[in-house]
Amino acid sequence: MKYFLSILFLTGLMMSCKKEAVEVSLIKQPGHFPKPHYNFANFELNQAGIDLGKALFYDPILSFDNSISCASCHHQSAGFSDPGKSFSLGVDDSLSDRNSIGLVNLIWSPTFFWDGGVNHLELTGFAPINNVKEMKEDMNHIVDELYQDNDYRALFLRAFNEDTITAQRVLWSLAAYMATLISSESYYDRVYKGEASFNVEQDKGYKLFQRDCVSCHTEPLTSNYNFENNGLDEEFEDLGRAQITLNASDRGKFKVPTLRNITLTAPYMHDGRFNTLNEVIDHYSDGIKMSATLSNKLPEGFHYTPSEKKALIKFLETLVDPFFVQNPDFN
Ligand code: HEC
Ligand code: HEC
Repeated sequence: MKYFLSILFLTGLMMSCKKEAVEVSLIKQPGHFPKPHYNFANFELNQAGIDLGKALFYDPILSFDNSISCASCHHQSAGFSDPGKSFSLGVDDSLSDRNSIGLVNLIWSPTFFWDGGVNHLELTGFAPINNVKEMKEDMNHIVDELYQDNDYRALFLRAFNEDTITAQRVLWSLAAYMATLISSESYYDRVYKGEASFNVEQDKGYKLFQRDCVSCHTEPLTSNYNFENNGLDEEFEDLGRAQITLNASDRGKFKVPTLRNITLTAPYMHDGRFNTLNEVIDHYSDGIKMSATLSNKLPEGFHYTPSEKKALIKFLETLVDPFFVQNPDFN
């Protein structure tokens, strides 16, 4: 994260105006999920703020040449990932450094991005906007542009009771919208809640998943949100978490990604190196590479039989949430 200092500055701003946690009834918290990490303490969440965030998320005005919106790299139909692309296309056709991440259940995540370089949902909009390979835009310029737009002034007035537009309010609104992106109605969730059951093959896959995967892809969110090295490489082209902490012991570790909507978010891993779930399962089966920071939760490989591989994939398919990818509230 090259904008670390600016982000620290913004964090400082936010701490200085911290208020009591506010009513979060606008965010539907699934009963079978744990308590969220994010608590909306900094601003008053209301429907107008969520609507404003949605408008901003889909508006290329947030990019340098008004060509790219957040949604250009985060498509709802693909669980808000960028399907089919190992790296995403930003302004001037430049390529992002890493694979786009599906935006889902973000209020449970204590950190963001593959290296966890941002630790507050309200700051996540800042990184892509400022990144020259993504939106290449300046917050002050965005604020000016938005202020000249009567529709946006009206939206800010509704959301914040005054039409003053600030960088912080832009980021708050984006966070308000992203907080609503909750996926909890997959077939897996129905089974988890005891409302449905797996067929024989899905159940076989689920048992393997519980044996081999949940230590990192913890249920029901399918991530423990820690940083782990899952054996992709012997040498690290991308240092991952160590880029933030500068600790050698974090080299090659990345944030454990959620597996929700996983069949829709290919290609996989921080660099999009695997095109299919078959390749991912082959990796965990026989492709684990030894390195200094390899997780001790992964043996040299699980050596699955073909029918075990198939069962694991049948189970992973139950993590797709059709209500989430088609929810009209999100677009
Ligand atoms: C050019 C493509 C592109 C655009 C435009 C873009 N993103 Fe992203 N987004 C990415 C990539 C790539 C990552 C992963 C980057 C990394 O980890 O280094 C990412 C990661 C994220 C994450 C982290 C999710 C997690 O679970 O850790 C959030 C949140 C996010 N983007 C929000 C936004 C918002 C808000 C906007 C608009 C202001 C936006 N993105 C615009 C490509 C893009
Ligand atoms: C030691 C922790 C750990 C274990 C155990 C583990 N994973 Fe992962 N998994 C990760 C990490 C970390 C990543 C991201 C790695 C990267 O991109 O560098 C990941 C990535 C993935 C991805 C790609 C997700 C995406 O959005 O790109 C899939 C699919 C996946 N794992 C499935 C599984 C399955 C199935 C198992 C059990 C067979 C499993 N994982 C076991 C840590 C783990």
